[in-house]
Order: sequence, then structure tokens, then C-alpha cells
Amino acid sequence: MGQIVINKDLAKAISDFQLPENLGFGNVMAPVMASCSYENGKWGPLELLPYGPITMYPTAKVLHYAQEIFEGMKAYRVNGKGPFIFRPEENHLRFNRSAERMAMPHVPYNIFMQAVLDVTAYSSNFVPRRTGESLYLRPFMFASEESLGIKPAEKFKFMVIASPSGSYFSGAGLSVYIERENARAFPGGTGFAKTGGNYAAGLAAAITTKNLGFVQTLWLDAVHKKYIEEMSGMNVFVVINNELHTSTLGDTILDGITRKSLITLAQDLGYKVVERKIDVDEMLADIKSGKCTEAFACGTAAIITPINYFGEANGDRYPLHYPDGKVSTILREKLLAIQEGREQDPYKWVTVVEPKTLN
Ligand SMILES: Cc1ncc(COP(=O)(O)O)c(C=O)c1O
Repeated sequence: MGQIVINKDLAKAISDFQLPENLGFGNVMAPVMASCSYENGKWGPLELLPYGPITMYPTAKVLHYAQEIFEGMKAYRVNGKGPFIFRPEENHLRFNRSAERMAMPHVPYNIFMQAVLDVTAYSSNFVPRRTGESLYLRPFMFASEESLGIKPAEKFKFMVIASPSGSYFSGAGLSVYIERENARAFPGGTGFAKTGGNYAAGLAAAITTKNLGFVQTLWLDAVHKKYIEEMSGMNVFVVINNELHTSTLGDTILDGITRKSLITLAQDLGYKVVERKIDVDEMLADIKSGKCTEAFACGTAAIITPINYFGEANGDRYPLHYPDGKVSTILREKLLAIQEGREQDPYKWVTVVEPKTLN
């Protein structure tokens, strides 16, 4: 890894930081962040500095034209072992796929990895240690160029921040609203990229979802409003006749690293996994007839969270036979045991981080 510039105030910021007892998800920020600027066609030095406000001009293109991408990943330190980061090279690859779609430069592997690993290494003491808890890592890049012209920026900032976090969902099973009006992504659009606009496009539906008493929104394809795509921050699996079914990827769905890992794990555990277009009304009929016994959401934040029921605006409800999961409980335990370093990692998915301190 290359040279890194360490800000003179970082040691104090780290020694002053105290991890609160109640974390929630994404609310508490670790005292370290990484930053690297792109200008004149190249990346400058990577800097580690105390977490805090950043300055930019009101004309920064990101504020007007949403040229922005991000990633979400986790470092685990259960029982004091680790920290372990799950498949960071996959996040790097996806980050650069998002960058291409949003007309942004690639972030080189060394800069991405060093930023993620060093933020984790210097935050080692702030990685919460109970199972299911972690340090949530958020790499992101935005157009910092100061100009209102609508054209691709030439100045960018890449940063990594981190949040000691508890579980994403609190309480029992997920209730999922089937969104039949709004669309999140469309063919030829940006659905497969992890860019802020996709999430903004889902927020109005998030209000409807909440007002109707649901926790999550299920998106259908924008063209036919018929096939299940994904949720606003996670992929979806359903269990039909003991087989795992999930939507085929395309340019409207995020290629989830949890989804990909679960396909491998499930197949190695002997489950048949089917990737196909899933017709939502067929799925609801399968739930009613008892063919579809469970469904679950998966993603870095959610890990694996069973779905309690699907529902519609007209009040119809489709409860799953196993609202707490059956197959999903087996998969969740297996995946989490690897992520937390409690079990052997035959896939070499886990990167071990050496904790670091400053004097
Ligand atoms: C829209 C969307 N789909 C799916 C996922 C799951 O992806 P991953 O498993 O890589 O976290 C996420 C979270 O990153 C997401 O934001």
C-alpha cells in the first residue's frame, strides 16, 4: 500500500472518542475518516483525518446534478477477534462499475483498499463486539467541481467514513409493501449503480410505505409493473418448494454481494437456487397456496432478514408460513459465522485487518 498523510489532530480525536452504549444504525460515527482528491486527471495523496464537516462551494456539481456514488460494507470484531472485512474487493469492483455509469473516474484498488483498511484499523477499538453488530463502512465519491454547467465534472473527492452500528432492523419480522405505482429504476437507467439518485427516487414511496404501516418497499420492474426487482436497500429471495428463487440481475437491480454469497453458500448446502423473473402475482398466489413458505431480504446492512408478510395498498395481506425464516435462519447463521470469523472461511471471503494505534 502507498503513502498516507496522517492529520496532526487525529491522535487526539481517536483518544477522546467514547463508544456510546446505544448505537442504532449509522447514527454514531467513528472519529477517523479518509479523503483523497482527484484533479487534472489524477488522484492526489490519501489523507486520514478526524471525522468532521467538509467544506465545498455551493456550486459543487454534486449538489445540483447528483454526480455521486457510494458503497456499504462491514467490519466485524465479535469476541475481540478481527476486525474482519467481508469481500472488500467486490465492493471495489462495484464502486468502479457505478463510477463508469455516472461518468466518474475509477478509484484505484490501492487507494480504495488503503482507505477502507486504515479507517478500520484505527477504529478497531470502536468496532462493537456483540454478534450482528459491526463497523459499517461507507466509501463514497462526489463531484466537487465548482461550476453550474451541466457536464461531467473533472474534480472529485473520494472519502471513507465509518459508523459503529447495531442491527439495521429492530423488532420482529419485516412487513413489505408492494409498490405498484412508482418505479425506482428502468432499463438503460442507473438502477445497477450505487448512486444517491436511485435512493432519492425511492423516498416518496418510503413515506407511503410507512403511512400504510409497512417497513420496506418492494419494487417491481418499471416497464410491466409485474416482476419483482428488489427493495430500496436489499435484494430479495423467496423459498418455493424448498428451492431458493431470486430475481435475475440486469441493469435495474443492484448486484448484491450478500445475494451473490448466499447463492454460493446455499448451493454448497445442497439447496437448488433459481435465478429468474419472478411475477409478483404468481408469488402471491404461491404464498396463498402454501408453495411459497418463506421470503427474506438480504444485504450488507440487513444481513438476512425474514419477511413476515407482503401487502398491498388496498389492505390485502399475504403472510408467510415461516415469518421468522427456516432456510433463511440456516443461511444467516452460516453467513454471519464466516463474516464474524467464528467459522472457517473456505471461500477466502474475509480480509483480516491489523489494528493500528497512533501515539
Ligand atoms: C438497492 C440495493 N439492493 C441491494 C443491496 C444489497 O447489496 P449488498 O449485499 O452488496 O449489500 C443494497 C445494499 O447495498 C442496495 O442498496
